[in-house]
Amino acid sequence: QAASSLTVASQPSACSGDNEYADVDLDKLGFGLTPVDFMCIMRCSKEENFKEGRLTRFGNIEISPSAGVLNYGQGLYEGTKANRTASGRILLFRPEQNATRMKHGAERMCMPSPSIEQFVDAVKEIVFANKRWIPPPGKGSLYVRPLLLGSGPILGLAPAPEYTFLIYASPVHNYFKEGTAPLNLYIDENFVRASPGGAGGVKTITNYAPVLKAIARAKNRGFSDVLYLDALHRKYLKEVSSCNIFIVKGNLISTPAANGTILEGVTRKSIIETARDHGYQVEERPILVDELVDTDEVFCTGTAVGVAPVASITHQNRRIEFKSEGRLVSQELCSTLVGLQTGRIEDTKGWTVEV
Ligand code: COI
Repeated sequence: QAASSLTVASQPSACSGDNEYADVDLDKLGFGLTPVDFMCIMRCSKEENFKEGRLTRFGNIEISPSAGVLNYGQGLYEGTKANRTASGRILLFRPEQNATRMKHGAERMCMPSPSIEQFVDAVKEIVFANKRWIPPPGKGSLYVRPLLLGSGPILGLAPAPEYTFLIYASPVHNYFKEGTAPLNLYIDENFVRASPGGAGGVKTITNYAPVLKAIARAKNRGFSDVLYLDALHRKYLKEVSSCNIFIVKGNLISTPAANGTILEGVTRKSIIETARDHGYQVEERPILVDELVDTDEVFCTGTAVGVAPVASITHQNRRIEFKSEGRLVSQELCSTLVGLQTGRIEDTKGWTVEV
């Protein structure tokens, strides 16, 4: 059981019984919200650090209409997953990476942040308290969503006087409605996701609503998601709305360099290391959109998305197709990563954390 650093505000009676599963329709599980039993909340003022948290029933929170997060978007979010192993263990995947990323993001957004230990302990507690919602092996994961919010009231543009660190969770399976089918991406040059000097490299909530319109346009045309180009030249690949991107040519795997305009995903980082372990050469570098015509394979990575092969990318009315069946590099790397995350492969890297 996770070490307890949270005050329990209501008894976790709903999760008694080790082998009990919550009533979830696993065949319909996509990436929608299924409310679970508990969430956790910690609050602190801008002069303090986070201290004690509370485990409470999942539900609405009360927030001032002039909260910094509601008015000026002073907020960050994270995403990590808990999986069940075949032997019944519960594993988290590199949660300290999410904690570190939140810490860096908080600095950028002028917010206090929980310590790495507080973050990881709270994630463990939320997973343990909601463990009946973790799908059986192979049927999905419990997606854990930590939020850091400027929750105190403020009218002028300045850091909020009070902060809320909150974690909720939901059982999930495939992110895209396509399931595990290869993705079809669309490059829409009318939109950019991030620009130099902006906050594209941190997981601020303000990076996400602006891409909703681009996603809606792409989905209306039958595409899975949008691949963004750089803001200055509109000729280098950056990332997809919901995930990072990799291209494969022979033994060389490349992904756009993280220069403050790319969200450095935990899955991105783990796939880079896994690919090197598998003998591939991996480069983080500027990738020209023109390189796509001469690319063997393309795949996306993200916590929610996992490792997803890309069948095509459409750019300026030209559809470029990639290998997306048979023996894929992405499949080889995905199998190792999922093997580690679900306990099928022994974790020699210390990436998994047992709850
Ligand atoms: C994640 O992969 O955890 C994300 O935060 C992406 C989000 C669009 C679901």
